[in-house]
Amino acid sequence: MTKIAIFASGSGSNFESIMNAIEEGKLQNIEVTALYTDKANAYCIERARKFNLDVHINELKNFDSKADYERKIIEWLTAEKVEWIILAGYMKLIGEHILNAYDRRILNIHPSLLPKYKGKDAVGQAFESGDTVTGSTVHYVDSGMDTGEIIEQGTCPIYKEDTKAQLEERIKAIEHQLYPEVISKIIQ
Ligand code: GAR
Repeated sequence: MTKIAIFASGSGSNFESIMNAIEEGKLQNIEVTALYTDKANAYCIERARKFNLDVHINELKNFDSKADYERKIIEWLTAEKVEWIILAGYMKLIGEHILNAYDRRILNIHPSLLPKYKGKDAVGQAFESGDTVTGSTVHYVDSGMDTGEIIEQGTCPIYKEDTKAQLEERIKAIEHQLYPEVISKIIQ
């Protein structure tokens, strides 16, 4: 069993798709030790309850520095013998402490065809762009914002009549397939 931790800041639909893939046997030999979140009221916490999964809530505002905040996370990761970190809508840059401890063992999913539309509101950036195709990217995490080595991408069309919400939903549907598949390939 390879132990992974999933980090999320928001709704957690990608987190849930990974948990479902494990339950359905599509993602084998992987154990999620806990959900790690930086938001005490994030909906991902509700989702974790359904799976009886431990949740670590760690808010940056309770620490003097990002380094101290990350040290707390590393304490939990070490205690749980976590080998890989999976970012699933975790909206903070990973700092040097965690990066040093988990070099090339952190994955992220980002809702655009990187290197296009890095950073915040990638779906909105694609929606406004006039592009006819977008998608999502799974990549290794480095010290930059959505800059690490690309592993795999999934694509979908952008239709003229789309609302942003429709596009977001289409991209999430791709992510829910793509991320468990890539985790399975990379981690096993
Ligand atoms: C996902 O679309 C993910 O790609 C994106 O946040 C969303 C989280 O949704 N991540 C980023 O933008 C990272 N830069 P979820 O909470 O429903 O999984």
